[in-house]
Amino acid sequence: MTDLRLTVHRAFEQHFGEPPAFIARAPGRVNLIGEHTDYNDGFVFPMAIDRETLIAFRPRPDRTVSVHLLDFDQHVTFSLENLTRVDSSPVEYLKGVAAVLQSEDYTLSGWEGVIAGNVPIGAGLSSSASLEMAAIRAFEQVSGFIWDAPRMAKLGQRVENEWLGLKTGIMDQMISAAGQTGHAVLIDCRTLDLKPAPLPQGTVVVVMDTSTRRGLVHSKYNERRQQCEAAAAHFGIAVLRDISVEAFDARAHELDDLTRRRARHVVTENARTLAAYDAMQQGDPRILGALMDASHESLRDDFEVSTDALNAIVTAAQRHPACYGARMTGAGFGGCAVALVMANQAESFVQFVTGTYQHTTGLQAALYVCHASEGASLSSLFA
Ligand code: GLA
Repeated sequence: MTDLRLTVHRAFEQHFGEPPAFIARAPGRVNLIGEHTDYNDGFVFPMAIDRETLIAFRPRPDRTVSVHLLDFDQHVTFSLENLTRVDSSPVEYLKGVAAVLQSEDYTLSGWEGVIAGNVPIGAGLSSSASLEMAAIRAFEQVSGFIWDAPRMAKLGQRVENEWLGLKTGIMDQMISAAGQTGHAVLIDCRTLDLKPAPLPQGTVVVVMDTSTRRGLVHSKYNERRQQCEAAAAHFGIAVLRDISVEAFDARAHELDDLTRRRARHVVTENARTLAAYDAMQQGDPRILGALMDASHESLRDDFEVSTDALNAIVTAAQRHPACYGARMTGAGFGGCAVALVMANQAESFVQFVTGTYQHTTGLQAALYVCHASEGASLSSLFA
């Protein structure tokens, strides 16, 4: 049993006086490339990571959910009748999941349990998607419906969009639901078609947490989305997925400077993401790394979602000889960056980046080598 499993298992026993009946789990994710493309119906290339949210639980005979949130030292109980949003506390993710499932005519039963996770919160590694997907797994078990990854991912996205008011795309929930061990997964966000690809031989993915957290992300994220929609409307298309780099270049002068740069990021990022998948297929870390570097420049200069801390850690990473490429990852505005690194020099890379980043910013980074894990799962603890 992993440490986290042991933690939720023991906490469940303490609270309920017997072992849990089930454990639901769902991973966080790191996106290798394809940033701010998902809500433009484009391509993303994330992997589910070995950091996750776990729910140890047992069914209840009534329509009540009662949970202990270990990381927040909070106990919350709510009824599945007449759900309303109260604030932005973590329990809203659970209520949102229940409300969205019920709005789709799923008949839900209650459960009780303990929740804990080791995906850092607000770091761009999708702790919220992992909580949503784990919660859907718990409801699935007690209510007896059938798990279907793309369908459940869309419901999780609706929790963000409708319950919490953040107009996010489908990437985080999709990879948390459908990740594959040892593989990054190219996701076509229009069709939800999945193409897994293993990392190039001899490489590892290193997540680099700047230890800065996102600020004002809601308003800035939604604003970026509107700017993309405005650019698409100008070209007479619904989403920027539908314009090629060549067609964009030919008409880019028609847009004002800001809208042009926003759109240029999305259009070129889609092309880079498809090229990254090809590089991965060919096992070519150099091309993959160069595409990651180019993605960072585009996010920094055109889409303007990077920060000084993210730029500092990416620059430090790129200076190490074992680094193929590095970029910020996730929504931006703080949080984590990601690097593709020679496996046999990962330790020296981690030390170098930690030291250099501390020297330039005065901040303490947290770096970890990540392994691609499988998507959301459920285990029964009945013998
Ligand atoms: C957040 C959102 C995703 C995606 C990324 C940026 O993680 O939840 O849908 O838009 O930002 O790529």
